[in-house]
Amino acid sequence: NSKKIVVTRKIPQEVLELLKSRAEVYVWDSDEESIPQDVLLAEVRDAAAIFTNVADSINKTVLDAAPALQVVATMAVGYDNIDVKEATRRGIPVGHTPGVLTETTADLTFSLLMATARRIPEADRFVREDKWKSWSPMLLTGQDIYGATIGIIGMGRIGEAVAKRATGFDMKILYHNRSRRPEAEAALGAKCRELDDLLREADYVVLMAPASQETRKLMGEREFSLMKPNAIFINSSRGTNVDEEALYLVLKEKRIWAAGLDVFEQEPIRADHPLLSLDNVVVAPHIGSASIATRTKMAMMTAENILRGLAGEKLLHTVNGEVYEK
Ligand code: GLV
Ligand code: GLV
Repeated sequence: NSKKIVVTRKIPQEVLELLKSRAEVYVWDSDEESIPQDVLLAEVRDAAAIFTNVADSINKTVLDAAPALQVVATMAVGYDNIDVKEATRRGIPVGHTPGVLTETTADLTFSLLMATARRIPEADRFVREDKWKSWSPMLLTGQDIYGATIGIIGMGRIGEAVAKRATGFDMKILYHNRSRRPEAEAALGAKCRELDDLLREADYVVLMAPASQETRKLMGEREFSLMKPNAIFINSSRGTNVDEEALYLVLKEKRIWAAGLDVFEQEPIRADHPLLSLDNVVVAPHIGSASIATRTKMAMMTAENILRGLAGEKLLHTVNGEVYEK
């Protein structure tokens, strides 16, 4: 079989072996760096498939450079890095990996919430920097999690899994979503709110919406201003959903209490970014789904999507099902 798969990043060996047993494989074999655009453009010239991830931009230029392309699959649930409209226009199915990462991403989201509320990274730095002189009543005091109100914006699979964790902490659960989720309301006691009401009532505002035109800078100056001064903002969805300048200002001026962020407008965020000068910000490098087991499953599912696409079969999970209607 002479079909070529371009894998834009080092992936687990077993997954690579599987792909190699079925096709010719080019792999950008780096753990640290994304594939440079010029390498990508050159390698896709004769490619039938692209195995991609959130750090690549699979835009019109890349699609134009790949006339033999039959399938694109991303090792992620989100696909805002891919020009899906252009792929659809060319009849190319785009695969992604929903489901397998739901619980793992909810775990990270809840860890970030707890780490931010209880100032764990700051406490860790405090001890390492030898600042611990004695026990002190108000040293590194944070916010309670149990019994507080959590407001989840974007009640998809991951949002619901976060809500499930919140029930274990006796939290009051609010959500805002494009459509109502009666089964989540029944199962978890979650209550639906207009966005502004959720922002006014929640002690924890957790953003779980996928990136789209409608959610671009969904959280801006106006929205942050509605939050309580002791409220905490958590984002493990996409950085483009947030106006980071506005977030920086409300955090600096202590108009909200803290933020825990796994995603940023520009990734990687640089260490000299203003947000990183604030003690009330806890950050992680986009590791929502990063457990060994889940990342391995995601890579395997992406490979399966690719192999199905090459065989002309329906992918396991297709973003643009319209390509099968023609
Ligand atoms: C990661 O951010 C994903 O969309 O899976
Ligand atoms: C992703 O799995 C979501 O729907 O939240």
